[in-house]
Amino acid sequence: MRKSVITQGFSAPLRGEIKTPPDKSMSHRSLIIGSLTKGKIKISNFLTGADCLATLEILKELGCEIQFIDENTVVLDAKNAYRAPKKELYCGNSGTTMRLMAGLLSAQNFNSTLSGDISLSKRPMKRIIEPLSFMGAAIKSNDGKAPLVIEQANIKGIEYKSPIASAQVKSALLLAGLQTPNGKTTVLEPHLSRDHTERMLKFFGSNVENYNKNGLFAATISQTPLMPKDLNVVGDISSAAFIMIAAAIIKDSDVILKNIGLNPTRTGLIDVMKRMKANIDVLNCDLVSNEEVGDIRIKYSPDMEGCEISGDLIPRLIDEIPVIALLASQAKGETIIKDAGDLKNKESDRIACVERELRKFGVNIQGTEDGFIIEGKNGGNGLFKGDLEVDCYHDHRIAMMGYIAGLISQKPCKINDFEWVETSFPGFLNIFENLKK
Ligand code: S3P
Repeated sequence: MRKSVITQGFSAPLRGEIKTPPDKSMSHRSLIIGSLTKGKIKISNFLTGADCLATLEILKELGCEIQFIDENTVVLDAKNAYRAPKKELYCGNSGTTMRLMAGLLSAQNFNSTLSGDISLSKRPMKRIIEPLSFMGAAIKSNDGKAPLVIEQANIKGIEYKSPIASAQVKSALLLAGLQTPNGKTTVLEPHLSRDHTERMLKFFGSNVENYNKNGLFAATISQTPLMPKDLNVVGDISSAAFIMIAAAIIKDSDVILKNIGLNPTRTGLIDVMKRMKANIDVLNCDLVSNEEVGDIRIKYSPDMEGCEISGDLIPRLIDEIPVIALLASQAKGETIIKDAGDLKNKESDRIACVERELRKFGVNIQGTEDGFIIEGKNGGNGLFKGDLEVDCYHDHRIAMMGYIAGLISQKPCKINDFEWVETSFPGFLNIFENLKK
């Protein structure tokens, strides 16, 4: 059902303490990698967003027994994994589901088909089809796009130099490589992409290794049995980003986010906010299920300055860029975001769509081939007039960016198709309502 949300002029300050919603990348992987243990595991703090539920339904179709024992705790029993599916495996809006499952399914002795919604069916799949085919996988596609028909094949380990830093590409290959007795699989990437797959595989006992090779970032794996173990998903910094940035730009805000995942491959936003002179502190660091975790306190930050965001930083904050573009509009001076051309291949073309939607608010933003140039508030107070409509193009992160922009707008703003937020952040509106003081 299509649902729009209306922001009501300038927001009250955000104040208080909240538990960060569970991490999407880890939730997908907890089921996918958990199922490779062929045992029974309990997953706590599992994200019930639509993307992760798509992964869950697919694994059920492949023979896993999966039950919720409370709202966010799942018991996965994979002793019957994997059996041939009786129907198409529907990935919905979720690129992570399609790309990681393609890796897992390439190594099975049955055929399967992965399909997706209109947004996912436009996204490039050649980036996994090609290297999986080098491994011997037999994948048919619609000219490099979904649906993907994966036929049974014998696969072997390869060394693959990926032209892009992509955790989804790396993970697809590692999951295929884990399942073949024929040699080891190495993925080389130009920058280090998020390493949740490697960390979780190690957590379950795999021999996967990360290292540097000739200036590239390498991950190598070979077949090893995985041991079932209960796992805790940490909080999602990509969801927290909306709250962190809202607190930094809404006057008199002061918010503590508990239990945020602080894996260094994901914390680019914290580095950038520190560089921009935001009032941000990281507290109480710990390690949970082989992932760093901690709390973040963030206060209203009226003196932020623009900066350049590029190179190695990009994979460390790729999903936060839409809302970082909004943040930059509230900093003094120019912010340049570059080396982020893959934004065009996300749930929407995030370069075109972020530019179009933020311009409606009056942001001085220019999309480029691989990012943005944003002129910050430059003397003014940066607040927007509002009285406009935001479109989200089947993209949860554009809808949430629009909502935060609405919170610093004088007049109401209508955010269309807000149901897309369920993809990654169920409970988004409740969290904001509870923080407004
Ligand atoms: C993800 C990896 C990233 C990210 C996506 C989730 C993952 O994509 O943008 O939202 O869970 O592996 P790429 O690996 O394609 O950059």
